[in-house]
Amino acid sequence: MKIIVTGGAGFIGGNFVHYMINKYPDYKIICLDKLTYAGNLETLEPVMDNKGFRFVKGDIADRDFVYKLFEDEKPDMVVNFAAESHVDRSITDPGIFLQTNVIGTGVLLDACRIYGIKRYHQVSTDEVYGDLPLDRPDLFFTETTPLHTSSPYSASKASADLLVLAYHRTFKLPVTISRCSNNYGPYHFPEKLIPLMIANCLNDKPLPVYGKGENVRDWLYVEDHCRAIDMIIHDGREGEVYNIGGHNERTNLQVVETIIDALGKSRDLIQYVTDRPGHDMRYAIDPTKIHDELGWEPTTRFDDGIKKTIDWYLNNKPWWEKIISGEYQNYYEKMYAGR
Ligand code: NAD
Ligand code: TYD
Repeated sequence: MKIIVTGGAGFIGGNFVHYMINKYPDYKIICLDKLTYAGNLETLEPVMDNKGFRFVKGDIADRDFVYKLFEDEKPDMVVNFAAESHVDRSITDPGIFLQTNVIGTGVLLDACRIYGIKRYHQVSTDEVYGDLPLDRPDLFFTETTPLHTSSPYSASKASADLLVLAYHRTFKLPVTISRCSNNYGPYHFPEKLIPLMIANCLNDKPLPVYGKGENVRDWLYVEDHCRAIDMIIHDGREGEVYNIGGHNERTNLQVVETIIDALGKSRDLIQYVTDRPGHDMRYAIDPTKIHDELGWEPTTRFDDGIKKTIDWYLNNKPWWEKIISGEYQNYYEKMYAGR
């Protein structure tokens, strides 16, 4: 089995590459990644010399390059993680989100159509469903919840999902889509809530909580996500969407306080800042379909996963300290100064 994993130098794709190489030593895994600010070859260092692994630097939206790669490698499957993934960046600069998330997905689908594929899997997000109100804890996203996006990021991901389903219907391309809730765990880029708060806490810097900190996310440990994708690409039904996540809901304030307490810091570090425009209130997944069809369920509870994650950041300081000492400082200044 030969799988092209796009975006494998990023957070979830990197964890997926590690997971697949450990579980399927006979597979060939080809990581295609543009190495944007979010891509990091140090995430792939532990597998770089593995005989079943190849890293290729390139852009999923570069048609000639992608076709050539398909011609050379003749993959059995594609798992597409490559994306611009940060909502805040999509608010300041939407264009690149359309280019990578929509056009890039279209190029990959065309390559699959032209060269043939056993499975194209699109890694999507629960953010395509929009948000749920805080006063209706009985409501959850199912696979039939209408798409109703809030940010340029989620709109670009929803557009890509529609393209994937259209290629299934029109060209009979064997596709699957997974829509996952917020992930956390090792190798998470420190612009996102959990690693940002861990890094700032360890450096005794203010912890910028948007609005009142009451927004709710449904947190999934990244390894549980990788296992779900593994199940879907091998046993999921073609043309189907699977929601991944479930019942690990926390307010942002709860998450930040858990991190502060685990690191023995003061809650005075919390600084409430101007809210994100269009900020989604609550995400919550109903994972019944993937549980009933494929037997998947999350195995790591948030209280355990957050401890493991904090330990990882404590034990891998060079990985994230290098990131936050570079271009990230300009990003941070632009995003948070005077907010
Ligand atoms: P990430 O930002 O950490 O990594 C994205 C990777 O894609 C990087 O390595 C980057 O270099 C690469 N990339 C970006 N543009 C590219 C291009 N044009 N061509 C090739 N490579 C490119 O993102 P992540 O958090 O690991 O998310 C991975 C996928 O999972 C995304 O599609 C995202 O929408 C989805 N997702 C993320 C979450 C989450 O909580 N992080 C939840 C649900 C779904
Ligand atoms: P984030 O990690 O950006 O993921 P998403 O927006 O895709 O859910 O943010 C998670 C939540 O944390 C979201 O409600 C926004 C909030 N947040 C803060 O309060 N402060 C921050 O500095 C960041 C990055 C996020």
